[in-house]
Order: sequence, then structure tokens, then C-alpha cells
Amino acid sequence: MSSIENEGRDGFSSRFGIICAAAGSAIGLGNIWRFPYIVGESGGGAFLLIYLGFILLLGIPVMLSEFVIGRRAQRNALGSFKRLAPGKPWYLVGVMGIVAAFMILAFYSTIAGWTLEYIVKSLTNSFSGKSPDQIALMFDNFHTQALWPLVWQLVFMFMTAWIIVSGVKKGIEKYAKVLMPFLVILLIIMAVRSLTLPGAGEGLAFLFRPDFSAIDSNVLLAALGQAFFSLSIGMGTLITYGSYIRKDNKLGNIAVEVSVADTLIALLAGVAIFPAVFAFQVDPAGGPGLIFNVLPGIFQQMPGGYFFGVIFFILLAIAALTSSISILEVIVAYLTEELSMTRRKATVMATSAAAFVGMFCTLSFGALEGFTISGLHVFDLLDFTASNLLLPLGGLMIVLFVGWYMKGVDVKDEITNGGVVRARFTGALRFILRFVAPVAIAVVLFDSLGII
Ligand code: PFF
Repeated sequence: MSSIENEGRDGFSSRFGIICAAAGSAIGLGNIWRFPYIVGESGGGAFLLIYLGFILLLGIPVMLSEFVIGRRAQRNALGSFKRLAPGKPWYLVGVMGIVAAFMILAFYSTIAGWTLEYIVKSLTNSFSGKSPDQIALMFDNFHTQALWPLVWQLVFMFMTAWIIVSGVKKGIEKYAKVLMPFLVILLIIMAVRSLTLPGAGEGLAFLFRPDFSAIDSNVLLAALGQAFFSLSIGMGTLITYGSYIRKDNKLGNIAVEVSVADTLIALLAGVAIFPAVFAFQVDPAGGPGLIFNVLPGIFQQMPGGYFFGVIFFILLAIAALTSSISILEVIVAYLTEELSMTRRKATVMATSAAAFVGMFCTLSFGALEGFTISGLHVFDLLDFTASNLLLPLGGLMIVLFVGWYMKGVDVKDEITNGGVVRARFTGALRFILRFVAPVAIAVVLFDSLGII
């Protein structure tokens, strides 16, 4: 069977466009907000090693598999499974992905809202002259109240929806293209400053000196969840984006480039944050507030810190936006293609629903803090369920689908662009997809759940 053609769907016009969009999806709060605090909670260096192993062994193959499914089927996350496996229950993987997308959008917008507040705080020079303790107190006062975190969350949701309504090419490509290099440059400058703070060495040791006694099944699951979350894999985001990739772009190269870029940025964020965490004597295991407690302190210690702080939080919000539009796109592509809704209606419905759930996430740091289910408040519950359970489970099903259900020749056809690209690693890849990745994901997932 020759590969299915693009069918006149909206798509990415250039290779650069798809790289930027996929990297735009991958690079976001996951790298700069979530990665440091999960590393901090999980004991540092040993977690990092395992995380890197998961990216290489599981992340890249799952990402490539999503591209293969999406580009071959030319459909959204759910429709792709229906098309490639008609009459079979595989489409449930797509259903799960859409559920995960709702959950992630809900709690992602909470944190994205915090970054908007931090743009304003930086602009108004609110951190000036404050000690690390006072900065921590400011964060506490802000994120536990109800009004402003909710306002910012809704503002962020609105921006996401607005970009999505304007369409794939114009919307996603335009915003993703130019801005991420600036974020990288800024992170490098911040890392340099952080590394020259007194006491920085302790932070580096924490990040890079593995202490394997800190590893247990929960840490393994956290590393798996973080790898999937950061790469935007396991819920069909990259199936949806894959369906927009042109037939002559090389899927393998795109998967590797995006994964490497994503990982380097997470590492850079780690190097910018941990020296400062120890220099300012902040608790590395303090949870989701970590960067908000630490970064303003770094800017204060920099010449031109006011300026850098403002630019950084703006870029962070934009990085969050290019990720959140990719999450919303999963739901909207499903609603428009499978349920024939207009793009506008689909966007309004999906955004409203996610915003509604999202408000509970935001309030779970304040008014609803006491409302917990098996010990987790709403925010943590959604984050844990989506990132650590649904994404790995989705990834497991995706590698099983490509490794066992799809015909080897079809997978090869897609990876080699119909035989045009040299197939150097397809043998090894197939082995990973069929055996290594499913076993590894299943063991980590089921072990931590106490199933095996
Ligand atoms: N990868 C994004 C980040 O690191 O911020 C978050 C994300 C986007 C997760 C898209 C999942 C997804 F499908």
C-alpha cells in the first residue's frame, strides 16, 4: 500500500515550520517549571540519569510512532486509530488521549496563569530589594488567593483559544517560529549567573551526582511521567501534528531533533535553577512553586535583572502558549473531524470545559486545599493521573500499535517516505517498539501501581 496522500488538509508548509511547532509543543512549562520541581522532589542526579535513559529508549520511539500513525492516517488522534484499524477498539487510545488533553489543559493553565502574574510583578519591579524569604512569601500570598490566579488562568485560556480558532498554519507556525531561540539565550545567561552565586556547587552536585539510594518505584514512575509530559507524547498531540507533516519530511530526524532540543532545554533550566535553589537555601523538594520562589532572586542578582526578568516571564508564557495550543488542538481536531463541528464552536466548547475544571485546579492551592482524593488535591490529582498514568499507558498502546498491529512494511514505508530515505535504524527501532519499550513502560507503570 502506498502512503495515503495529504488530502488537501491544512498542514505545515515547511520542515522548519513543523520542527518549530513540534518543539513548541514539547518545550514549555514542562521543561522550566515541572522538570526542576520533579527533579527536586525525586532526589536529583539519579532521577536525571533515569530520565535521560527514558527519553532515549522510550521517548524518541514513542514520538516517532505518533508521527507514523498521524501522517499515515491523516486524521486526529482518535480518527487515526479508526482509520488504520477500522472496527477495532484501538480508537480507545484516542479517547484516552482526549481525556488526558482535558486534564492537562486544566492544570497547565493554572501554572501558565502564574507566569502571567509574574510578568506583571516583574514589570512593576515588585521583587526589588526583597530577600529570598520575602520572595517566597509573595508567591504564597499570590497563589493561595482566589481572584488573581483565576483571572490569569482565564486570560491564558482565552489566548490559547484565540490562536486555535485562527487555524493551523497561521496560528501555530507563526507563533512558534521566532521566539524560542530567545528563551534559550536567556536561560544560558541565567545559568551563568546562577552558577556564579556563592554556594552554587551544591546545586550542581545535587543535579549531577547520582545517589541511587533515592530511587524507588515512585521515582521511576515520576521519571517516566516527566519524560512523556515534556515530550508531549502519549496522548496523540504528535499524532495530530504528524497528520500535518508533509510527505517528504523525514519523521525520524524530526523526532530526534525535537527530543534533543527539549531535553537540552530542561537541562539548561536545571542548571539555571538548582545552584540558586541551594544558594538561596530554598527546599528543592518544595513542589510546584519552586521556580517562582527562586527565579526572581536570580534576576535580582543580575545586572539588568529588571529587564531580564520581564523578558523571561514573557517568553515563558509564550512557551506555555505554544504547548497549550497543541493540547487544545488535540481536542479541537477531534471535534471538527469526527463530530463535524465548526472550528470555532469546537474551540469554545473545549476551552470552556477545560477552563471549568481548571478553576478547581487553581483553587486547590487555596480555598480548596483541604479537598483531597486519596491524599491529593485536585491539581495534583489531575497532574498525577494524566502525566504519570494516562500518558505512559497511551505510550504503551501506541508502541504496541505500531510494533505489533501495523504491518512492518507500512511502518517502514512511512519512516522511509516510501523508500526514499535510507532506513538505517529500522531493524533496531522495530525491536524497541515490539519488545523493549512495551516491557519497560509496563514494568514501571504496573510496578508502581502495585499490580506486579
Ligand atoms: N510538553 C509540554 C511541556 O513540556 O510544557 C506539555 C504538554 C504538551 C504535554 C502537549 C502533553 C501534550 F500533549
